[in-house]
Amino acid sequence: SPSMRSSLTGPAAPVTVLATALLLAAAPAAGAATAGPVPGEPEPRAGSTGGGDPYFPAAGNGGYEVEHYDLDLVYDPATRALTGTAALTANATEALASFSLDLRGLTAESVHVDGAAAAITQEDGELVVTPEEPLAAGAAFTATVRYGGTTGQPTDPSGAVYGWVSTDDGAFVANEPDAASTWYPVNDVPTDKATYAIAVAVPEGLTAVANGELLSTTTAGGLTTWSWSAADPIASYLTTASVGDYDLTTTTTAAGLPVIDAVDRDLDATQRAVTTARLSLQPAMIDHFTALLGPYPFTSAGAIVDDDTVAGYALETQTRPIYAGVPTESTIAHEIAHQWLGNSVTPATWRDIWLNEGFATWAEWSWDEASGGPSVQERFDEEYARPEDDDLWAVAPGDPGAEDLFAEAVYTRGAMALHALEARIGEEAFATLLRRWVSENAGANVTTADLLALAEDVSGEQLDDFFTLWIDIPGKPDDGGVASSQE
Ligand code: ARG
Ligand code: ZN
Repeated sequence: SPSMRSSLTGPAAPVTVLATALLLAAAPAAGAATAGPVPGEPEPRAGSTGGGDPYFPAAGNGGYEVEHYDLDLVYDPATRALTGTAALTANATEALASFSLDLRGLTAESVHVDGAAAAITQEDGELVVTPEEPLAAGAAFTATVRYGGTTGQPTDPSGAVYGWVSTDDGAFVANEPDAASTWYPVNDVPTDKATYAIAVAVPEGLTAVANGELLSTTTAGGLTTWSWSAADPIASYLTTASVGDYDLTTTTTAAGLPVIDAVDRDLDATQRAVTTARLSLQPAMIDHFTALLGPYPFTSAGAIVDDDTVAGYALETQTRPIYAGVPTESTIAHEIAHQWLGNSVTPATWRDIWLNEGFATWAEWSWDEASGGPSVQERFDEEYARPEDDDLWAVAPGDPGAEDLFAEAVYTRGAMALHALEARIGEEAFATLLRRWVSENAGANVTTADLLALAEDVSGEQLDDFFTLWIDIPGKPDDGGVASSQE
C-alpha cells in the first residue's frame, strides 16, 4: 500500500529530474554549435535522396539544381580502374543541412563544399553530403567530389548493359535511363540539365570521346588527356565519355556545323567502309530534320561507332550518338532526330519515354521515305496489319513501366500514333505542331499532356479520346480510316 507504492515510484522521481536537467543543459549547447533557426527563414533540412520519378524514384535528388559539371577522369581499360574528380556548380532550391548525389559502384574519398571538407556517407547508390555550414535556400555552391573504383558492366531493369560499360579496350558509355551515376556523382533526373566539361585521361594510343567539342589533347607519362566541352545543357542520361581505339575525324556541314566522328579501328575494312559511307549522310539527315523541325539545336554533331558486342544498341548521346557496332542508315537517322526530339525537348519523367522514341521512330520513317525507302504510310499499314493479340498492342506507350521502357510499342506504336494524328488533324496542322513542339519547348521538359494541349491548340480539335486510345491504354486502336487497306 503506501509503503509499497513509494518503493515503486521512488526511483522514478530522480530519473525525471535527471532527464529534464539533461534537456536543459543540452539546449544552449545545440544552439551554440549551429547558427540556430533564423526567424523568418526555413530550418535547413536533409534534401531528398530521390528525384520523384514514377519509374526510377531513387534516381535524382531534392533541394538543388546543378548548372555545370566539370569532370576530370582517369581510366585504365586493363584494370577497369576509374578515378575522378567531379566539380559541380549548383544552386540550393531549399535550405539544406545535407544533400544527396547519385553515385553507384564507386567510392567517394572526399567531398568539399565551397572549398570546405564535408562529412559524407554512402549507401545504396546515394552519396549523402553534410557541409560544414548549412546551405541557404537560393544559395549558389560548389561541390567537389574525389572518387574512384573498379567499373564493370551494369544492367538496366530489362537486363541490357548500360552506364559505364567496360569493354576489352575501353568503355561504351550509354546512361539511359539512370546510369550516369555509374561514372560520376550526379543529380540523375532528365529535368536537371547542365553544361559539361569532360576530360578523360587514357593510356596513350586510345581515344576518349565525350559530348560537345574537343578543346585539347595533352600527353604526359604515357597518358593522353582528351578534354571536351559542351556549351548546351545536357540531361545526365545523354552524357558520354566513351573510350576506344577510335579514329577521330572532323568535318563541317555547309552551314558550318562541326561533325566529329569516332570510328573504331578494330572494325574490319568492310565494316569501316560501310560505316564511313553511312556517316557521310549525317549532313543530309540534319538538313532533312532542320526542314521538318527547325534549326539543329546544338553546337556540334557526329557519331561514336564502337566494336562492342555486349550492348548491341545505340543511344542518342547529345551531339554525338553512340553505336555499339556498324549502324544502319535508319538508326543514324533515328539518333540524329533525337537531338531535337528527346535531347532538346526532353520528357519530364521516364513514363513519357514515348515522346522520345515515338517521335524519333516517326522521324526515322520520314527520312526513309525522303531517301527512297518505304513511305510512312506504308510503314503504318505494315504494322497496323499485326493481329490484335500481337505484343505491339499489349503495351500502352504512355505508361510502359520501367521494364518495358524500350518495348517495341513505345517506338513503333508511338510512331504510328503520330502518323494517325497527322491523318486526323491534316498535314499542315501536323507540320505546325512539329515546329511549335520543338521551338516552344527547346531546352525544356515536356509531358504527354503538353503534346495533347498543343495538338488541340494547333488543330482546334478535341483530341483526348484519340490520345487515350493510341497512347494511354493497351489494345489495338481503331485506325480511324488511316490504314490504306481500310480506304
Ligand atoms: N534511346 C535508345 C534508342 O533510341 C535506346 C536505349 C536503350 N537503352 C537501354 N538501357 N536499354 O534507340
Ligand atoms: Zn530512340
